[in-house]
Order: sequence, then structure tokens, then C-alpha cells
Amino acid sequence: MSAAEQDLIQALSDEEIGEIEKEITHLNGRKSAAIDALKIVQKHRRYVSDESLQAVANLLGMSFAELDGIATFYNLIFRKPVGEKVILLCDSVSCWIMGGVDIREKIKSKLQIEMGETTPDDKYTLLPMSCLGDCDHAPAMIVGEDVYRDLTNERIDEIFDE
Ligand code: FES
Repeated sequence: MSAAEQDLIQALSDEEIGEIEKEITHLNGRKSAAIDALKIVQKHRRYVSDESLQAVANLLGMSFAELDGIATFYNLIFRKPVGEKVILLCDSVSCWIMGGVDIREKIKSKLQIEMGETTPDDKYTLLPMSCLGDCDHAPAMIVGEDVYRDLTNERIDEIFDE
């Protein structure tokens, strides 16, 4: 391994490398582990920096551009720093019809941030997301790992006051 490759590998911890290598052994070819490898990095660091992405690309035998394309296409991989919990607020038609715009304004005012921003205490990042697949319970959002459906202004107060 070259010195440059050694440097890049520092963008991943030994634990991350171990988890990614384990994932690779379960799959057919190193490139097949691309999304899982990015998820592993995100689990440890909340997001995937350029340096970590390059290190993962090296591990998988891919180019930066190839892996970045996958990360960009898979919109649950965050390429910029995010808060402890990411709020993915549905930004598609069923949710708009069912009052999604009001819900968006309510969350923005509750957390005092705009779309794409993180609260000053680093707790929440608010991001738009295309249809979450819960249109019959619109408006909907995901906070961290939890899905919230049939949102109302009152429900938003309850969720964030919890
Ligand atoms: S449009 Fe919002 S969940 Fe489908």
C-alpha cells in the first residue's frame, strides 16, 4: 500500500474498516458492498466526508466519482455534517395536499431553523425527502429511525416536546 493510500485509510477507523471488510465477505464482489460500507461510515460519523468516501472507494477498488455517484443517488447517505437526528420531511404531492406545507412551517418555527439547517444544539437537521411511501397517512416524516404519520400541528408539538 502506498503512503498516499495509508493516509487516506486514516479517514476510516479500524472498527469501520473491520465492519466493511466483514460486509464484503458476505457479498459477491467488493463493489457490491458500496451502500453498506457508506452506511457503516455514517453510523460512526453521522455523515460521509470526502476523505472517508475516498478511503471507502480505495477499500472497494472504486473511483471517488463512482462511489460518490452511488452516495448521491442513495439519498439516505449524508455528505455534509448533520445533527444527532435527521428529520426527513416528505416533500411530495400527497403530503402537500394533506397540509404538508403547514407542517413544514410548524417544524421550522418549532426548531427555529430553515430546511437544510441544523439546530444550534446539534440535535436536529431538517431535510426534504421525496415520497416516504406513506401517502395514505400523509403528511409524514422520519425522525432518526422513527416514522411519524398523519401529522398535525398538535402532533408536532407532542413529538418535539417529548
Ligand atoms: S407523498 Fe408524502 S408519503 Fe407519499
